Parts: sequence; C-alpha cells; structure tokens
Amino acid sequence: MALNSRLNMADGHARQALTPGQARIIDDLPNLFAKTAASPPEEVELDACRAYLDLLGQHSHPGGDGRVLACYSSSVAMEIFARAMVREGGPVALIHPTFDNIPDILRGVGLRLVPLEEDRLHEGDLDPDLLNSVRCVFVTTPNNPTGRVLTEERLRALAAQCARHNVVLALDTSFRGFDPRGHYDHYRVLEDSGCRWVVIEDTGKLWPTLELKIGWLVFSAELGLPIPKIYSDILLGASPLVLALVQRFAEDAADGGLADLHRFIAGNRAHVRQELSHLPGVGFPDLDSRASVERVHVGDRSALDVWSALSDQNVYVLPCQKFHWANPAEGDSMLRIALARSAGPLSEATRALRHVLAAT
Ligand SMILES: Cc1ncc(COP(=O)(O)O)c(C=O)c1O
Repeated sequence: MALNSRLNMADGHARQALTPGQARIIDDLPNLFAKTAASPPEEVELDACRAYLDLLGQHSHPGGDGRVLACYSSSVAMEIFARAMVREGGPVALIHPTFDNIPDILRGVGLRLVPLEEDRLHEGDLDPDLLNSVRCVFVTTPNNPTGRVLTEERLRALAAQCARHNVVLALDTSFRGFDPRGHYDHYRVLEDSGCRWVVIEDTGKLWPTLELKIGWLVFSAELGLPIPKIYSDILLGASPLVLALVQRFAEDAADGGLADLHRFIAGNRAHVRQELSHLPGVGFPDLDSRASVERVHVGDRSALDVWSALSDQNVYVLPCQKFHWANPAEGDSMLRIALARSAGPLSEATRALRHVLAAT
C-alpha cells in the first residue's frame, strides 16, 4: 500500500524528482542503449564499477581482479553472501539495530545471529569471547536507520581483530553515498588488514532511477567462500544498460550532483526537525546522521498508534520495531521517515505527522 501512496515516506529507496542533469541522462536513454549494446559487457561493467566506487573514494576496490560482482540489487548480493556464508557455519554477530531484511536473509538460509550493539561496536575493541564464538561480524555503515558511520580507525581495529580470530568481516555500505565520513578508502584498510572480508555496495539509495540499480558484491582474494559459484547459480550478470546508466549518474554526481544531493537531504532533514521539534516529548536521536532517513522519537506515544493514524490518511512512515531485530520493543517509541523524497510530498506528510503527534 505504501508504495502506491504519493505520501510514501516509508522505504529508504530514492524517490525524489530527477535533477536537470539526471533528466538529461534519462532523455538520452535511446543513445545510451545503442552505445551499450555495441560495447563489450565486461568493459561496461568495469567502467560502471570504477565510476561509482571512485566517486565514493573507494579507489582500492578490486574491480580489475574479478572480485566485484554486479547484482540486480543489494538484497540479491546479500542472499548470495548468506548462501556462501552458511557453508562456513555460523553464528554471525550482526549490528543491532539495523535494516530488517539483513537479519531476515541471514536467518533465511539458516544462520544463527548474535546481536552486536551499535554503541558497543563504536566504543572500542570487540570482546575476544564474542569473536571466538562467531564466524562472521556483519556491520551496516552508515547504518540504517541510525546513520552511524564506522570510522577508519575503528574499521582498521575491527579488521585486525577479525584477522586474528579468522572471522569474516562483512560490511553493508548501501548508504555510504550520503555521508562523506564513509568515503575513506575502505578497500585499502581491508586489503591491508589481511582479514577475510566481504562488502555489499548499492547504488539504489542515491538516485531516483525507478529501481534500476546495482548491488555490488565485493570480496577478498582469500575469502574461502564459494561466492563466484553461487553468483553464477543465480545470475549471469546485471543488465549492461543499468550498469551504463549507473556510470552516467556517477559521472553527473562527480560533477557536482553528489554535493547537490547532500544539500537536498540536509534541507529535508532540517525541515522535518523544524516542523516537529516543538511537540512535547518528540526528539531526534540521530543528530549527527546524514543518511537519507531520519528517526523520530515520539515520546510516550506508541509509534504503532501514530503509524496507524497516519496510514488512515494514506501517509506512510515506518515504525522502528523491526530494525531492533533482537529486541523489537526497543523500537516501540520510534518512527523512521524517508528523506529522499521531493519537498512537496515530504512537507505534506510531515504536516500530517505533526497533527497526529499533537493529537496523541
Ligand atoms: C542497509 C540496507 N541494505 C540493503 C537494503 C536492500 O536494498 P534493496 O531493496 O535495493 O535490495 C536496504 C534497503 O533499504 C538497506 O537499507
């Protein structure tokens, strides 16, 4: 239902209007199709991967070595990783809270999960007993819904710990495009650490391309998991046209589009906070977040009641219980609003939320 509403502020996919630069790329689609059809697919794929990962500072990615596999979406990349990981056995220490389809997919293949509290992850070294008891540490950075980013220093220390304990370090960096603090070269840190690692990259959160997107599954040379085999069990490859489109959008972003997007999201975030902050009990737990989602603490109210009153008006946001996959009650007082939306619908939805909050 949410997907069909003009006031859908629920999912974290990009649904804002195209910028003029992006609209020009879409206008040129017939030419892009013809050019891509005449190019070797391998070249198209490598060019797209370089344009996207270089845009976000990931210069040491192993694209040239065949260790960056293009998938239809990051969930497909995740499913491939999960099916490979299950061969190694579990459990997996998974960041808590995080986007719920990550625990769903990992559990779906039979992996047991152990919550890794986000605060604990950022504080310092992980407990060696935890690392002795798991086969993988899985971190979403920037995290959805909190927007917290793993610093270079913490990534280096975590990768060193994973190397010492022979634990796979897996990262979901789907939201990295929004936050320059996530643009240090993760692949340099990971390659230098000697740990076994996997990264899932995602173009689908940044640009409003109607679900034309790529999830990249990137992995270390000595991973020892059958990722290429499982990838080829599931797909032959992603569409060269989508890859070429991603390359064009990445070039536009490098040419100023990314800075514009950051300003756009910051403006939407400021609007939501300004409209709601005077309401009693309402707060914003992620003051430092630059991700395209914003959590709203609804005070003593029940987030489910607020969600239900909004749904009655065809306005959709997300109650946060499912992000707290190991302890849903922790999300009882929290809603998440998507910010990658055009200003008009976002402000209409925010106004409706303000009225519901004021009345409850
Ligand atoms: C952190 C994270 N990873 C993966 C996904 C899955 O993305 P998709 O639905 O494009 O496969 C999402 C979706 O919102 C997400 O937030």
